[in-house]
Amino acid sequence: MNLIVAADNKWGIGRDGGLLASIPTDMKYFKEHTTGKVVVMGRKTLESMPGKRGLPNRTNYVLTTNPDYEAERCIVVNSEDELWEELSQYDPDEVFLIGGAALYNKFYRMCDRLYVTKMDADLNADTFIVNFDEDPDYKVVSESDPVTENGITFRFVVYERR
Ligand SMILES: NC(=O)c1ccc[n+]([C@@H]2O[C@H](COP(=O)([O-])OP(=O)(O)OC[C@H]3O[C@@H](n4cnc5c(N)ncnc54)[C@H](OP(=O)(O)O)[C@@H]3O)[C@@H](O)[C@H]2O)c1
Repeated sequence: MNLIVAADNKWGIGRDGGLLASIPTDMKYFKEHTTGKVVVMGRKTLESMPGKRGLPNRTNYVLTTNPDYEAERCIVVNSEDELWEELSQYDPDEVFLIGGAALYNKFYRMCDRLYVTKMDADLNADTFIVNFDEDPDYKVVSESDPVTENGITFRFVVYERR
């Protein structure tokens, strides 16, 4: 499984239930990596998306404890066991964990590759993920040049499990 996230310089990823910034080039990067793939998200991340429905041209899994939950374009799973059972049918390289913090923090160690858009700013987040630089099991394998868009400088960094 892979993970894809945009984080600020304190590893913040969200505020008030939404994203910290809107960066078109990062949106494009996310779309390029996940289109045609399987994406896995928590219920709160799904509900932060336009129309509260799954992303187009992707197989969307949503994790919630609510057994009656339904959402357009989504396959709903109610437990980790159910999620792993479902995901076992796919090539792990085709699966992307797309948030939010609850799922990133719980499951990132199950990911072989972490695609992190590192935003070089403190964007006043209220939702944080762990600092991947402090996890000795992961190393940076690529890092783009910095790009500035909408006043935010960011780099695309890829980590792999050692
Ligand atoms: N920067 C980024 O790249 C990025 C990406 C995605 C999201 N975000 C941000 O992250 C924030 C949301 O993150 P979050 O941590 O609050 O929520 P989240 O991870 O999206 O969703 C949490 C929900 O997932 C369900 N869940 C979690 N573990 C479960 C388990 N083991 N079994 C069953 N259900 C489980 C629960 O849903 P129920 O309460 O329904 O049971 C839980 O409330 C937002 O601000 C969003 O914009 C940022």
